[in-house]
Amino acid sequence: MTHVNLYHRDLGLGPPVIFVHGFPLDGRMWQRQATLAERIRIITPDLPGAGRSPHFDLGQSPATLGHYADAVIDLLDRLELEKATLCGLSMGGYILFEIWRRAPQRIASLIFCDTRAEADSPDIKQNRRAAIQKVIQGRRAEVTEPMLDLLLAPPARQNPDLVDDVRAMMDAVVEEGLVAALQAMHDRPDSLETLRTIVVPALVIVGSLDSLTPPPTARVIQQGISHSRLVEIPDAGHLSPLENPRAFNAALVEFLLGIPGAS
Ligand code: MLT
Repeated sequence: MTHVNLYHRDLGLGPPVIFVHGFPLDGRMWQRQATLAERIRIITPDLPGAGRSPHFDLGQSPATLGHYADAVIDLLDRLELEKATLCGLSMGGYILFEIWRRAPQRIASLIFCDTRAEADSPDIKQNRRAAIQKVIQGRRAEVTEPMLDLLLAPPARQNPDLVDDVRAMMDAVVEEGLVAALQAMHDRPDSLETLRTIVVPALVIVGSLDSLTPPPTARVIQQGISHSRLVEIPDAGHLSPLENPRAFNAALVEFLLGIPGAS
């Protein structure tokens, strides 16, 4: 069974936005966007195997980004949304590219946060394979704990509540979910060519202190999409919506209200 009914939260009224989380997290990473519910409808799914969503049953086949993209498209169907804005962070951004390739007619506009268009380099692929082995051997903490320093910039690492939130999300990803996401990211195609096919309005957001997908990486996405804008979020690392929600939310609202017919 590749079909998964994604668990999701659905808050507020207004133009619908589906927020697709990064790895190894879940839809709670968008909880600091809840204040936007006065102006937009915030839909935050947990991807398969993360948070409260069941994992895929793929048998022996490896998970692909296509499986994740289809799960999000199924959610649009279940919610009877002909179109929505899609906002994805990091792995969520990789999934957005895949949804655009599969079902561009379902997308009103795109928001790419702290993500990249390029496929994995050979070194990163090697790291992913090593990480998969560690998870399979029951050593998942060796994969997730070092990620805290990569995901969060130094100011956020001083905030124990925020660190606890991130750890709780990491702990809520089942082992099969970690392996599937690592494999899907490892195998994902390059999306550089996809950039110039994107014709809907797009916003690219990046934390100024993001060490995983730094500002020059975000600029590649913005320069590749004709109707796009780049906003750098000060004092934030890879998890910009959590680390500086005030600046992140302001950028989101300004973008969404500027789209004709979206407010
Ligand atoms: C994420 O935040 O989703 C991951 O760091 C992405 C990645 O590992 O490429």
